[in-house]
Amino acid sequence: MAGPESSSRTPLRPVREVRPWKADSWQAHPAAQMPRYDDPAELDAALAKLAKLPPLVTSWEVLALKQQLADAQDGKRFLLQGGDCAETFADCDNEVIANRLKVLLQMSLVLVHGLRMPVLRVGRFAGQYAKPRSADTETIDGVTLPVYRGDLVNGPAFTAAERRADPARMLEGHARSAMTMNFVRALIDGGFADLHHPEYWNLAWVEGSPLAAEYRQMVDGISGAMHFMETLAGPIASFQRADFYTSHEALLLPYEQAMTRQVPRQWGWFDLSTHFPWIGMRTAALDGAHVEMCRGIRNPIAVKVGPAMHAEQLRALLDILNPDDEPGRLTLVHRMGAGGIGQHLPRLINAVKAAGRRVLWVCDPMHGNTEKLGTGVKTRRFANIRSELEQAFDIHAAEGSHLGGVHLELTGEDVTECLGGARNLSEADLGRAYKSTVDPRLNYEQSLELAMLIVRKSVNRSV
Ligand code: PEP
Ligand code: CO
Repeated sequence: MAGPESSSRTPLRPVREVRPWKADSWQAHPAAQMPRYDDPAELDAALAKLAKLPPLVTSWEVLALKQQLADAQDGKRFLLQGGDCAETFADCDNEVIANRLKVLLQMSLVLVHGLRMPVLRVGRFAGQYAKPRSADTETIDGVTLPVYRGDLVNGPAFTAAERRADPARMLEGHARSAMTMNFVRALIDGGFADLHHPEYWNLAWVEGSPLAAEYRQMVDGISGAMHFMETLAGPIASFQRADFYTSHEALLLPYEQAMTRQVPRQWGWFDLSTHFPWIGMRTAALDGAHVEMCRGIRNPIAVKVGPAMHAEQLRALLDILNPDDEPGRLTLVHRMGAGGIGQHLPRLINAVKAAGRRVLWVCDPMHGNTEKLGTGVKTRRFANIRSELEQAFDIHAAEGSHLGGVHLELTGEDVTECLGGARNLSEADLGRAYKSTVDPRLNYEQSLELAMLIVRKSVNRSV
């Protein structure tokens, strides 16, 4: 990940007078999606311990990322953000982490090659442990228990003990995030992301994939070009490593507060649990605790925007979260569904334009396309995901805006959770390898297919 030298463009303090803010001022605002901890002393003790533990990221990495997001706003980079819907503590496992990294690296190779611009890689990992839910409780056979809110809060098994909100899980979540980060950093520092060795990223089960030939051709083309350039110019350091940043939904506010720190030689506060926190669709209320928490930190912030977002609310969010229109500060992740994007996205693009504000527009083609089959299984159709993404490119172009990135739920495991794609997975296939505890993810092949689709869509536009 980026070192201190890359944060040279440190923005000045805000020029406008803003409402006072403290790391705990969110506590005076209505907080949606919060668990109920039944023992305040136990909660306080866990938070006090957490607040003393080292941060997971550094302020200079956070600021370097903000600069790269500013480049993406200007159309000079493309953001690839992806990972699990919900990480689990059990998935803090060497193979799961490495496979996810492999998929992201392969996708970014496809994007760099096709888009001819740098790709900014942000994982939904090393802390994506808290989930918003549609109800507070779940009832099975007449027994009602608190709903599962992600491993950072409670356990998925339907027992009173597992479903109790346990503050010690925040300490465990911090530790697992640190282990994940440590492994990712070590892999990258050790040369795992070296473009000279794309074979490091091959996943065994992919041999024989319908996409393999196209991918291999691309890799051969890149290797040839690299060889040519290095013959002329000598070894090029940037071929040898790829920066990775982390992100998660800033949902569990006591956890985020404990990780929000001041650092020497920087003004203001940083949430050092992750580089790039986002506000979920269900917690984006203007007066809500999540918006209050995020407004005071210096990290870049993303907000998920769904079909219910009004232009007025969006304009107010821009004012609250980015009063000085700082480049790279605010990303809007639209997730409308293939059937809704045509209706809802243009008015939001126009609201931002009319306000004369800068944002990075990113498409999440996953969360508006979730459906439940007759069997009760949650899935997403690749055709809908694809359609939403294609429409997103077209709508931005038609409105004089541009799509600067994608936000995806994916895994390097050979899962069968989304229907369709290159192997045309059917309802019958879903039973074979459905592993997600929350939302259905793209498997490796479907992810790569989407990367190729992004390239086709962008290249067609520019000719
Ligand atoms: C998510 O990204 O997993 C999520 C819950 O998204 P949204 O807030 O857009 O529904
Ligand atoms: Co999800």
